[in-house]
Amino acid sequence: MPLPAAFAGRLRVPVIAAPMFLISGPDLVVSCCRNGVIGSFPALNQRTTHGFADWLDEIARRLDGIDDAAPFGVNLVVHRSNPRLEADLAVVIERKVPLVITSLGLNRDLIKAVHGYGGLVFHDVINLAFAAKAADAGVDGLIAVSAGAGGHAGPLNPFAALADIRRIFDGTLVLGGALSTGAQVAAARMAGADMAYLGTRFMATQESMAPPALRSMLLDASAADIVYTPAISGVHGNFLRPSIVAAGRDPDDLSKPASYDFGTTEAKAWRDIWAAGQGVGTIRDVPAAADLCRRLADEYEEALDGAARLSCRAVERPAG
Ligand SMILES: Cc1cc2nc3c(=O)[nH]c(=O)nc-3n(C[C@H](O)[C@H](O)[C@H](O)COP(=O)(O)O)c2cc1C
Repeated sequence: MPLPAAFAGRLRVPVIAAPMFLISGPDLVVSCCRNGVIGSFPALNQRTTHGFADWLDEIARRLDGIDDAAPFGVNLVVHRSNPRLEADLAVVIERKVPLVITSLGLNRDLIKAVHGYGGLVFHDVINLAFAAKAADAGVDGLIAVSAGAGGHAGPLNPFAALADIRRIFDGTLVLGGALSTGAQVAAARMAGADMAYLGTRFMATQESMAPPALRSMLLDASAADIVYTPAISGVHGNFLRPSIVAAGRDPDDLSKPASYDFGTTEAKAWRDIWAAGQGVGTIRDVPAAADLCRRLADEYEEALDGAARLSCRAVERPAG
C-alpha cells in the first residue's frame, strides 16, 4: 500500500493532524512536523489571503533547516461559496505547499496546478461515489472521513468505507473518524488504510487554538456527548452536545429555532457550537503536541510489536 515518495523517511507514525477550522495554526503545524506527523490547517483560519500567505511564510521559516521535518498540508474549501479559493490557490502555488487537502468540492484545474509544482492533493470524501469522482480526477490520496469523525463526517462505518474505496483506488488511502491513539492508527493500517487522519485528538493540545472552555468540555466528554446533525452548519456533522446547550439550542430538537435570535446573540456555527468527534472519550489530557506525536509513535510501534500475540496460531492448545 502506497505512501507518497515525498513522505519517505519523514514520518514517525503515519498520521496527519487534520485541518480544523478556528483550531489549527502555525504552532500546531510546526510542532507536528518537527515530531514526525504531518501538520495541516485550513487556509480560512486566516481572515485574508494575505494573512494566509504570512502563516505559510512563518511555517516555512520555523521548519527551515530541519531536513527530516514531516511535510505540511493546507486545506482549501473547494465550495462555490468560498470566495477566496482562487486567491488562496495562487498563494499555495507560489509557496509550493507540499500537500493540499481539498474538501466540500472537487476541482480538476486545482489538481493540475498543484501537480504542476510537484505538490500532492488529498481529497476528503464520505462515500464511494465521491471517492470514484476524485480518483478519476487524479488525486494522490483519498481521505475516508467515516462515522464518528469531528466536523463534517460521513455516515459510513470505517471498515466499510475503506473496503469500498480500496476497490477502486490504489493511491494513498487515509482514514479519519474517532482515531485517537497509536494502537488505533495501527488498527486502521491493518484494516487497509495507509495513514490515519486525527482531528479531535489534536484539538486537545497546548498548541491548538481551542479556547479553555472547549478544552475542558473535551476532557469531560464521551462518545455519547456527540450529536450528528445538519442543523448547525447545513452539512451533516458531529458537534459537542454541551456546547449546543450552552448556545441556547435543544440538542434533541434542533428543528426549534435558537432561543435567542436576530443578530448579535445568535450562536455562530463553529465559533459557539463546537465540532468534535466520537473519539473524545479517549481524551483525558492536554499535552504539548510534541508529546502527543511521540506518544502516538510509541503506541503505534508497541501495537505492531504486540500484534502477533493476537494470532489464533499463537494460542497454545491445552494438552490432551
Ligand atoms: C473543530 C473541527 C474543525 C474542523 N474543521 C475542518 C475544516 O475546516 N476543513 C476540513 O476539511 N475538515 C475540518 N474538520 C474535520 C477534520 O479535518 C477531520 O476530518 C476530523 O477531525 C477527523 O475526525 P476526528 O475528529 O474524529 O479525529 C474539522 C474537525 C473539527 C473537530
